[in-house]
Amino acid sequence: GMYQLGGYPMYLNSNDMQLGRGESIKDTARVLSRYLDGLMIRTFEQSKVEELAKYATIPIINGLTDEYHPCQILADLMTVKERKNKLEGLKVAFIGDGNNIANSFIVAALKLGMKFTLACPEGYEPLDEVLEFALGNDDFRLVRDKRKAAQDADVIVTDVWTSMGQEEEAKKRLLDFSGYIIDENLMTLTNPNCIVQHCLPAHKVEEISEGVFESHAEEIFDEAENRLHVQKAVMVKLMASHK
Ligand code: NVA
Repeated sequence: GMYQLGGYPMYLNSNDMQLGRGESIKDTARVLSRYLDGLMIRTFEQSKVEELAKYATIPIINGLTDEYHPCQILADLMTVKERKNKLEGLKVAFIGDGNNIANSFIVAALKLGMKFTLACPEGYEPLDEVLEFALGNDDFRLVRDKRKAAQDADVIVTDVWTSMGQEEEAKKRLLDFSGYIIDENLMTLTNPNCIVQHCLPAHKVEEISEGVFESHAEEIFDEAENRLHVQKAVMVKLMASHK
């Protein structure tokens, strides 16, 4: 995206920076702010992104944390809008883990007037702060039964059962999520022309069947492509107004 916009991207991991030698985020934020026009960070703890943003004087973009994944959700929303020509009033069903994707999607969907139902097993609910925001809003439902969520849905969303950093829990998660697959049976309950979104990589026969994935591949790969376009929009919006 940055190349296409005519900018100069740099990829830095913590070992390329003094962060890897114990420099505080506060100081790294102030150093990098002197060199760069913007910074996207992908890390585990949301608190690190917020610390960086607090001390940086350039735009900081959350490229993914354990808690939130706003850039991905912008790509999903762009894809839904392209396909449905609107967002308001659409019914979104998220089947699976109440993770970073679910957290960001709930907040975005409710702000945009979409109806959002999350079906997740016990113990895999979204963040408390997200539930506080969502519960009480008539457009939000949390259910255990995936069929209730899929009923009349316009958009079905899912994600892996084991996110990055959770690899040690993979076996337990496989058991806890069993049955939460999006398969052909489930798709019979949705509205006609329901679209499917998956942020990828997909684990077929875990969260989604091969058949559902392939019959909705166009939408899913549009979603992947839209990561590029919408992130360019984010960078233009933040960096152009920053200068
Ligand atoms: N929940 C996934 C999203 C990947 C795009 C993860 O955090 O690994």
